[in-house]
Amino acid sequence: MAYVDEGTINAIRRKHPIKEIVERYVSLTKKGEDYWGLCPFHADNNASMSVSVKLDMFQCFACHKAGNIFNFIADMENISYGDAIRLLAKEDGYEVYSVKKNDSNLEYYEIFKLANKFYQNNLNSSLGKNAIKYLEDREINRDIISKFELGLSISRQPVTPFLLNKYDINKLIDIGISNTDSNDVFVDRIMIPIHDLHGNPIGYGARIYQTKDGSKYINTKATKLFDKGRILYNYHRAHELLKKDEAIIIMEGYFDVIRASTVGVNNCVAPMGTALTKEQVSILKRATNTVILCFDGDEAGKNATIRAIPLLEEAKLNVKVVRLEEKDPDEFIIKRGKDEFIKKISNPLSVIDFKMSILKDDKDLNDAKDISEYLDQIIRELVKETDEFVVEVNLKKLASRFDIEYDLLKKRYNKYKSANKVRSGNNNIVVKKEKVLDKYGQATDNLLYYMIKSGSVIEKAEKDVVMILDDKKRMLFNEIIYYYHKYGELIIADFISYLVTSTEVFDTFNEIINMNLKDDYTDREISDYISVVNEYVREDKIKKLEMELKFEPDPMKQASICMEITKIRGVKNNDRRN
Ligand code: GTP
Ligand code: MN
Repeated sequence: MAYVDEGTINAIRRKHPIKEIVERYVSLTKKGEDYWGLCPFHADNNASMSVSVKLDMFQCFACHKAGNIFNFIADMENISYGDAIRLLAKEDGYEVYSVKKNDSNLEYYEIFKLANKFYQNNLNSSLGKNAIKYLEDREINRDIISKFELGLSISRQPVTPFLLNKYDINKLIDIGISNTDSNDVFVDRIMIPIHDLHGNPIGYGARIYQTKDGSKYINTKATKLFDKGRILYNYHRAHELLKKDEAIIIMEGYFDVIRASTVGVNNCVAPMGTALTKEQVSILKRATNTVILCFDGDEAGKNATIRAIPLLEEAKLNVKVVRLEEKDPDEFIIKRGKDEFIKKISNPLSVIDFKMSILKDDKDLNDAKDISEYLDQIIRELVKETDEFVVEVNLKKLASRFDIEYDLLKKRYNKYKSANKVRSGNNNIVVKKEKVLDKYGQATDNLLYYMIKSGSVIEKAEKDVVMILDDKKRMLFNEIIYYYHKYGELIIADFISYLVTSTEVFDTFNEIINMNLKDDYTDREISDYISVVNEYVREDKIKKLEMELKFEPDPMKQASICMEITKIRGVKNNDRRN
């Protein structure tokens, strides 16, 4: 992947003030210190977007989009952040390297590239005839073979001796191409290269094609580069072509993804035979707002869909579901063709519609008792729905479909809804914890906000804050401190470049900067935020110790836990006196 180094990125950013870049697209009017204009990222009639000369960033007060020149160009041109950097770099006449110069894995990628070429040659050689026939029978033509860089491992033509001409055996073993006895790991299989998120080759899925003995697929073992749970098959291609607001489609298998691309559907990815992981969800979250689950048409595919939904919803992704009347997307497309497939994915089910349809599966909807059970289950699902219109529309649909009084359904819904409220309302522990979290969360947010704005606050926070318990906010906290020490100051627009290109905390940063607190603050306020943050850490520690105490049978150890608790409490009381 093309790479521009950090120094150059900052130099480019300084050369182009935010006002110059925004004015390429939007006309601006000066009001006070800042410039204002119509926000191009939502339907804006009020000039809600401010462009701050001082901070060198733009910010929309209505849709909350914010960022530096690169974010602005990326969103306007519908390209990635990296491409926005490269666009301006080229414009300014900088050399754009074709790879990140100091990536310590470069040599490994080279080995994989060479191995891929070797496997591709095998497939095209006379020894590859049967494999080509297998692929042709599956309607995989030469263009697709070359697009997905499919190859072939052959026992009579191993890759290891070839690679040994240039590379050390230990390296080949480390990345899962060769065994310790210098034999190939993959033998007589169709080789499907797998890439990391940036498109670097890091492993293989390898399919058996001439026997039914052995696993249908084998993967590269877990290596330094290849960690199944942190990659998605075809992500780099899907991501590169992804249009703004376009969904990513998740399928189960390599050949589903490959087949979809033959009918022009390029936004598909697949986890590799395992359930979706949190890491994969967060990768998706960074690339899109909406995901479409398009798993196999069988019972297993249905269950995998049911399992994936909460994970994706938890990440605040908009989830849609496609259910296919064939074994998998691959077969659906072969049997029913492009148009029917496109129709399917263009009209996916909402989660509630999907749940309504599966609840139906084991019921006889002519039977009064089954109908009653079905309605009851759906109403329980609807209670979880946050959009009132969706609830209303579905209750109306059910009323007419089963010829039941709408009021009766609504009554049942209200009953469950209030029972639900009482359940969470009665639970004192939950409510109390939320309150503490609120006060603590706010102090943390405020502190982070002023850290971003002022070096002296960073120094004070670094000295006095014991710990930030929230993972994402702690990451931002650490990044601010790291950045401040590395560069001796924190220029917000440069810090944005740094966050976007190197870490995953940009969203948290955006949330914080969007709070738009007042500009001035007192030392007293900062000290107060820090005390609240620290007090929460202490309470958390005490709670944990009290739990430990409860389960500790040894009186000596009990005593020492008590002392520890008293000690922590003591610090707290001293604080209060001051
Ligand atoms: P084809 O028969 O080639 O179309 O495969 P498929 O994609 O229909 O496979 P299936 O639905 O059985 O499996 C979905 C995905 O699970 C595959 O693409 C693989 O990533 C993975 N998988 C399936 N079988 C195996 C196996 O035996 N071993 C491993 N490691 N992965 C497998
Ligand atoms: Mn299949």
